[in-house]
Amino acid sequence: MKVLVFGATGGAGGSVVRACAASPAVAEVRAVARRPLGFAHDKLRVSVHGDFLDYEPIADAFTGVDACLWCLGISATQVPDEAAYRLITHDFAVAAARMLAERSPGAAFHYVSGQGAGLDSRMMWARVKAETERDLMRDFGAVCWRPAFIDGEDSPNAPRFLQAMRPFFRVLRPFAGLYVAGQDIGRAMIQATAEGQRARIIGNRELRQIASRAPASAA
Ligand SMILES: NC(=O)c1ccc[n+]([C@@H]2O[C@H](COP(=O)([O-])OP(=O)(O)OC[C@H]3O[C@@H](n4cnc5c(N)ncnc54)[C@H](OP(=O)(O)O)[C@@H]3O)[C@@H](O)[C@H]2O)c1
Repeated sequence: MKVLVFGATGGAGGSVVRACAASPAVAEVRAVARRPLGFAHDKLRVSVHGDFLDYEPIADAFTGVDACLWCLGISATQVPDEAAYRLITHDFAVAAARMLAERSPGAAFHYVSGQGAGLDSRMMWARVKAETERDLMRDFGAVCWRPAFIDGEDSPNAPRFLQAMRPFFRVLRPFAGLYVAGQDIGRAMIQATAEGQRARIIGNRELRQIASRAPASAA
């Protein structure tokens, strides 16, 4: 399988790209990011790209892949308003899904959403995530993942206090609805692609179950 990863410089995407590189089911990992990754692997090719509404200059990265794993995102606390949040959360992802459909028809689009997303939510972030899920499922048959706390790679974007709290969050590990290891998101996406899953929302508990069905990773 060949996969294309977005958000690989972040906490969730950093784990997903490592899980893909380690997976025996994955032959090639492509990453699109606006800066180089602090990670290298024989299977990995990185395209540094600046405009996440226009992928035409890197269309080749979308060609001949089996899945696109969308881990790019931002906290609503890190943008000035809803328009800026919607641009990154919704518009960037929809533009990528459109390019994927053109260049790799039949490939799966996996979208990292978040636990608590809901069309009727009073929280702006939760509504925008749910609207994005709706549009991606309707137009591209996307698989939308709603992780709880993600124990991922260190991310320079995460607020300092959250980074410091991470070891404490690990007490949540036994609770299937509350915690996910970052690499399990990658394993689950790979496994769901192999199983042909499409157009559905997957919560944290099921995410962990799907990851547990994935083939064992290389050391
Ligand atoms: N962390 C959690 O516990 C958690 C739980 C549930 C859901 N999620 C969701 O998971 C997704 C990823 O979260 P994360 O914790 O991995 O975040 P993160 O560490 O901040 O990583 C975000 C990624 O998105 C990229 N990105 C952000 N804004 C961008 C922009 N304007 N243009 C291009 N790239 C941009 C970042 O690139 P740069 O490195 O270049 O900034 C980075 O690769 C988000 O949608 C988040 O809502 C997270």
